[in-house]
Amino acid sequence: MLVGAAAAQVPDWRPAGSAQTAAPEPITPIPPPPAADPLKLSLGERLFGDARLSGDGKRACSSCHDVRSNGAGRNRHDAAPDGSELSFNTPTVFNSALSFRLNWEGNFRTVEAQVQASLESPRIMASSIDDVVTRLNADRETVSEFEQAYGGKPDRASLLDAVATYERSLLTPDSRFDRWLGGDGTALSLAERNGYRLFKSLGCVSCHQGVNVGGNLFERLGVFHPLASPKPEILRVPSLRNVATTAPYFHDGSAPTLVEAVRRMGIAQLNRTLSEQQIEGIVAFLSTLTGTYRGDPVVATAAR
Ligand code: HEC
Ligand code: HEC
Repeated sequence: MLVGAAAAQVPDWRPAGSAQTAAPEPITPIPPPPAADPLKLSLGERLFGDARLSGDGKRACSSCHDVRSNGAGRNRHDAAPDGSELSFNTPTVFNSALSFRLNWEGNFRTVEAQVQASLESPRIMASSIDDVVTRLNADRETVSEFEQAYGGKPDRASLLDAVATYERSLLTPDSRFDRWLGGDGTALSLAERNGYRLFKSLGCVSCHQGVNVGGNLFERLGVFHPLASPKPEILRVPSLRNVATTAPYFHDGSAPTLVEAVRRMGIAQLNRTLSEQQIEGIVAFLSTLTGTYRGDPVVATAAR
């Protein structure tokens, strides 16, 4: 069922310290954020919320990716600058730097390339790197922040690096599931552990695995039965980290609840009609994948 070269991307199946289980686990804990220059990091954070990065000066990355809640939003589809709906649901930026490709179709390999595409897409920020660099250079305070962090005026490389540095810091370690992986047997209830067992035995884990519980394979959607909008036919398997906080689900946002998403996954990807009890167990397990950002739990956001 693996598509193309994706099979080669299955990561190391052997986390350190899964002491309480005999078999190695196919999911590994989210690491702490990588060490980063604090000046570059805080500059990147400010740029992420800076409307000068958009063509009309009205939107920032944070307009759609709310890191105070789930790194995404609640909307089925966010809007392009002309007010029309985007075709894809907005995914969370949390942990995205740990996925092997970015975006639903996995069409970007590096964080920097994805940032550039976000800036230049007429449907997202509708700007250009050159215009943003010109605008930032017109502001003395911003120039001085770049000089302190990068030893020079804002340019293409430092702009992309600052935003990418910030994005790499957007990791959400310390979920209950990761604590359990780390050896804390009390971190999960019996029902949650049973849900995890089911997630493995049913075969969900053949696609959703590794550090992001997804994000490391390409797969067909609707392997056995239609799932959501049939196009595109192949997607990067999405991460299920923090999934309990990121409704609605699927690339077209067509599943309003996690229960509904799990039910449809069973039929479409595994040809199984899951019982209510099975769905409940899996949802209980998935809810343990909610991590923390800067010490606070990731939470669902209110509709905007
Ligand atoms: C209008 C809403 C909107 C804005 C503004 C926006 N994004 Fe996004 N973002 C999206 C959507 C929709 C996708 C999915 C695109 C796709 O899959 O083709 C996405 C995808 C992403 C991803 C990939 C996540 C993953 O798991 O693959 C990252 C990273 C990201 N955006 C960062 C940014 C940055 C950085 C900015 C600012 C430069 C930005 N976004 C601005 C809506 C938005
Ligand atoms: C054959 C590979 C495959 C299998 C097996 C699989 N999935 Fe998925 N899963 C996907 C793909 C691909 C998507 C993206 C579908 C879309 O967006 O239209 C997805 C999406 C999801 C989502 C929505 C994520 C989001 O952020 O929108 C959930 C939840 C999910 N799967 C859970 C499960 C569960 C639970 C199982 C087992 C019952 C399972 N998956 C089995 C490939 C798979």
